[in-house]
This record gives sequence, structure tokens and C-alpha cells, in this order.
Amino acid sequence: MNRTPQDLHDFEDVAENYDLYLKVMYQNEDNHKGFQDFYLDLAREYGKDGVIDIACGTGAVLLYLAEHGIMADGTDLSESMCKVCAEKACASGFKLNIFPANMTEFQSPKKYSLAIIARSGFMHLTTPELQRAALLNIRKNLVKGGILTLNTFDPHPVFQAQQMNTKDTDYSLRLEYVNRQGQREKIYNAISYDPYTQIMSGNWKFETLDDSGNVIAERVRPLKMRQTYRQEMLYLAELCGFDVVNIYGGYNKESAEGSAKNVIWVFRKT
Ligand SMILES: C[S@@+](CC[C@H](N)C(=O)[O-])C[C@H]1O[C@@H](n2cnc3c(N)ncnc32)[C@H](O)[C@@H]1O
Repeated sequence: MNRTPQDLHDFEDVAENYDLYLKVMYQNEDNHKGFQDFYLDLAREYGKDGVIDIACGTGAVLLYLAEHGIMADGTDLSESMCKVCAEKACASGFKLNIFPANMTEFQSPKKYSLAIIARSGFMHLTTPELQRAALLNIRKNLVKGGILTLNTFDPHPVFQAQQMNTKDTDYSLRLEYVNRQGQREKIYNAISYDPYTQIMSGNWKFETLDDSGNVIAERVRPLKMRQTYRQEMLYLAELCGFDVVNIYGGYNKESAEGSAKNVIWVFRKT
């Protein structure tokens, strides 16, 4: 697979720094608290015929499962993320099958009893057609009665209204961290929302600083994510041949009643 970089995670500089800046980002605001143990529990309950971590990124879930004795396969659209993930697996002594692929079209010779899409991987599918293609394709790669879990963020009218008035250059500072080369970097983003497509279009700006805090380099990386309404997700799942096993309002199995920021879905192949 040879793709020109299109989105944030396709860029090598992002992949190699992803773990470093995410750690700082989630110290401030963590919508995904408890995610690794949530998936470990699911893998223990449903993964006896094989687990695949789809959009595995740098392996936050894949490697956590391996550390707890569950050797899952991993796949991600971004070759750069797969490379970082494979290097980390190798350094920890795990032999894992990690391959670059689009979740809308990968085909595995092995069928799985559990497919995981962790920490918003599904939100990177920017049209209903792509979402549908991914669900149908994942279904094909599951055994009879196999489980698929993914998360969505509940669309929030207040944030939507703010983002509808944000231009793609209206940056706000998200965090400062130290990159893999040991240089300080500031990360800013500007996210605008299109209510017609339900797409949040973001620009992520990375500023590299010298020891005195002067900006010595700047790069901007795009990121698009689509918001999905709950009812839309329910219809989509039904259309693609899945039943709902559970819906949680967070990775600690919080109730999904009312408005939950992070909605965790557990589906079963019908
Ligand atoms: C927010 S990251 C999450 C990574 C990982 N699951 C984690 O928890 O750290 C989303 C990942 O989705 C991947 N991705 C985006 N679109 C994809 C697609 N169509 N098929 C497979 N992976 C995709 C990106 O390359 C990125 O690594």
C-alpha cells in the first residue's frame, strides 16, 4: 500500500511522536480513561477465536492485550503508525501480525471472534458510505456471532455551534511536549464543523521551539472526523447486520442514558 499522506496519522513525524504527545494531552482531558482494561475484559470474554485491533495506531490496545497474554492482530490505514506499532511490539518481544490496510476493504485469511476499533478510529470515516463499507467489511472478517466494538462522540450542539464559527486558522494551544528528538514542541489546533456533512475539519499545527522558546519550525497536519448521531449508528448497525449487545457512556461501563460524551458500542454479528 503506497499512499501519499492525507490525514494527521499518515505523517511520519506524527506517528513517531504520537505516544509522547498523547500522554500529555490525556493528562489534561481524558475521554478515554480506562480504555485498555475495557478492551482486555472484552477480549477475555469474546476473543477466544481471535482478536483484531482495527485502526490500531501505535498499539495502545494491541500491546496491552499482548502484555496480558492475548496475541491479537493489528491493522491501520497508516503505514507510519503500523511501523511504530511493529517496532514497539518487536522491542517488547511480541511476534504480532500487524498490517497496513483500510478498514473498509481489508481481508484476513483468519476470521475473528472480536474486532476492536478503539479511541475514535471509526470517526475517521468521513461519509455514511465509508462507515457502511467498513461495517460490512468487518462483518465479513468475523466468525458467526462475532463481536465488534467501536466508539463515537455524541454530537454536542454547543461545541458544534462554536466550531461552526471557527476558521481553519483560528488556532488554540492544546499542549506542549518534548518530541522524539528531545525538542520542545507546542501543538495548536483549529477545528471547524460542517453541520451538513457532520464533519469536523481540523488543522493541527506543530511548532518546534529552541531552548529560548523561539519558534524554529512549523508544520500543519490536517484531520477530518465525522460525528454520528446515536440513532444513525443504530440504523447503520442494523443495516449492516449487527445487533446491539451493549451501549456504554464511557470505558468504565457508565450508563449511556442522556448525553454521554464518549459512547462505546458493542455489536454482535447477526
Ligand atoms: C485516533 S487514532 C487511534 C489509534 C489507536 N486505536 C489508539 O487507541 O491509540 C485513529 C487511527 O485510525 C487510523 N485510521 C483512520 N482511518 C482508517 C481506515 N479507514 N482504516 C484503518 N485505519 C484508519 C489512523 O491511521 C489512526 O492510527
